[in-house]
Amino acid sequence: MSDLRVLIVTSSPSTTCVGVILAGGSGSRLYPCTTVTNKHLLPIGEMPMIFYPIKKLVAAGITDILIVTGTEHMGDFISLLGSGKDFNCSLTYRVQDEAGGIAQALALAERFTNKQPMCVMLGDNIFENSISGLITQFLSEPDNAHILLKEVPDAERFGVAEMDGDSRTIVRRIVEKPQDPPSKYAVTGVYCYPPDVFEVIRTLTPSGRGEFEITDVNNIYLSQRRLHASFLDGYWSDAGTFPSLARANELVRQSPPQY
Ligand code: G1P
Repeated sequence: MSDLRVLIVTSSPSTTCVGVILAGGSGSRLYPCTTVTNKHLLPIGEMPMIFYPIKKLVAAGITDILIVTGTEHMGDFISLLGSGKDFNCSLTYRVQDEAGGIAQALALAERFTNKQPMCVMLGDNIFENSISGLITQFLSEPDNAHILLKEVPDAERFGVAEMDGDSRTIVRRIVEKPQDPPSKYAVTGVYCYPPDVFEVIRTLTPSGRGEFEITDVNNIYLSQRRLHASFLDGYWSDAGTFPSLARANELVRQSPPQY
């Protein structure tokens, strides 16, 4: 009898990825609901908002996660989330002393990420589908940044991708909150970056509104031909205003997110 041996080769990404959730900001568009608490602790469906990005990252295999938030409510985040063991992940916390934009908040993650690729999520982005496919694709080319786009009716509220002609894949540039949006394609708050994102952030200057913009980071990767854009399927909403907070709640009620 022949000795039949079967070698099972599993394909696993060559690199690992860490997670960064940005959960700072004053939440001023939600006053007075955010006067004494942080926006990301408000409820969406039956959970505090911050649970959603944590669960999305963990479901995609990302279990080493940094949470960046301000001094005022850091204690509440730690009381609520602890070490992360209830989510099967390890949580680290970093204080953002003053709100100075998304890119400035991300800069605080440099030591935590320790030269590893990262998936960055804005803590108020609520969406339906899993990000596992995105992470697999990103880790197959971890030297490129990767953003997710979503067609929206109110693009002027977001970073907006100007596309090359009728293309749905080639981005020409990204404009932050344009009065006259060049497309309906909003840049969602789910970003994958290589470790050199911190060098890119160091080259930034504050925008007109005095913030270090993540859109400027993405445009630099674009100019280096290192920005990959794809579309997010399923629903997506931010939750930083009363209408969008209500919308996010309704979307989650109608169809709970997939992990
Ligand atoms: C931020 C980004 C914007 C992005 C949006 C996604 O806007 O600046 O480019 O489209 O998140 O939620 P903010 O929510 O800070 O107004």
